[in-house]
Amino acid sequence: MSLPTTHLGDGLTVSRLGFGAMALTGVYGSSTLAENLRALNHALDAGVTLIDTADIYGDGDSERTVGEVAGRRRDYMTIATKFGITGSIAAKTMRARNDPAYVRAAAEASLGRLGVDTIDLYYLHRRDVTVPIEDTVGAMSELVAAGKVRHLGLSEVTADELEAAHRVHPIAAVQSEWSVWSRDVERSVAPTAARLGIGFVPYSPLGRGFLTGALSDPATFAGDWRAGLTRFTGDAFATNQAVVTALTGIAADHGATAAQIALAWLYAAGDRLGLPVVPIPGTRRPERITENASAASIALTADDLRVLNALSASVVGQRSDFDDPNWTSDSRESTDR
Ligand SMILES: NC(=O)c1ccc[n+]([C@@H]2O[C@H](COP(=O)([O-])OP(=O)(O)OC[C@H]3O[C@@H](n4cnc5c(N)ncnc54)[C@H](OP(=O)(O)O)[C@@H]3O)[C@@H](O)[C@H]2O)c1
Repeated sequence: MSLPTTHLGDGLTVSRLGFGAMALTGVYGSSTLAENLRALNHALDAGVTLIDTADIYGDGDSERTVGEVAGRRRDYMTIATKFGITGSIAAKTMRARNDPAYVRAAAEASLGRLGVDTIDLYYLHRRDVTVPIEDTVGAMSELVAAGKVRHLGLSEVTADELEAAHRVHPIAAVQSEWSVWSRDVERSVAPTAARLGIGFVPYSPLGRGFLTGALSDPATFAGDWRAGLTRFTGDAFATNQAVVTALTGIAADHGATAAQIALAWLYAAGDRLGLPVVPIPGTRRPERITENASAASIALTADDLRVLNALSASVVGQRSDFDDPNWTSDSRESTDR
């Protein structure tokens, strides 16, 4: 099967939907290696070419699993991975590190775990604000010159950082959180990407599962990462169900699911802002990959968009609760842009 394709920036063409391989590392519930391989292979069978991983996911396990599939199906895959976070997600000991020597070492380690000669899209995962972004992207551009990386991307950068980086080397994609309940990137980052001809890869496009309506009972995620997020806990969890109710209502009108409406809204937001958008929902379940892949064909009405665009105003809780104040771009974005 094939999916429609989208041009990000810097001549990089990928399927209209990507696959988030952090889902295969137990962050939102456990899965076996066999289940992970089945999900990844199903994504490729469904025409998804952009496979998103990172060195930090599962302490390298996500890259190893992607590499196992790449051993047989490399030609079908656009492999995106990331560097720039040390420590462990499970232990919540993550810190950003961006110095050029670290960039080079991290790339070699990722190439080894993936078992490939070239990374198709190499992202800076988190900004270490002690290192000028020009130095980090300079080191990344040397990887391109050496043939170890094809295209460069940046995650959770501000508009100013994106412009500075793009002056050093063309940036193909920005990857930051963007969904119907996390819209801060629309202020400056996405318009800047649109102006520079850079594509956008929204992460957590389903709000870590919340926007699908599958998490009506907190017991379903009591043992995973989401149990510590303010949007998912206490009164906020109940208040934020209003977003799910709206998505579910619009889904019923279209004979679709809430997940599909959340993804269709992102495509419409990309059209509104004039930039290519390729969401990367993660799932351990093949049938959900098929479901998510058909979202691009849903045409939301003006009334739907009016309702969906109003939802984020009533959301309770921040999109990031991490203790590093620089962890996400919204906290560094200057207010005068
Ligand atoms: N750059 C960054 O800093 C950053 C940060 C976070 C994530 N990411 C990337 O973005 C990807 C996606 O983000 P995410 O995994 O945080 O969140 P997400 O894609 O918004 O949500 C994933 C959750 O949604 C569930 N799900 C997926 N499709 C569904 C459907 N159709 N119906 C019901 N539930 C569905 C999955 O559960 P099941 O597995 O049970 O289906 C999973 O728990 C990650 O895998 C990772 O590659 C990047």
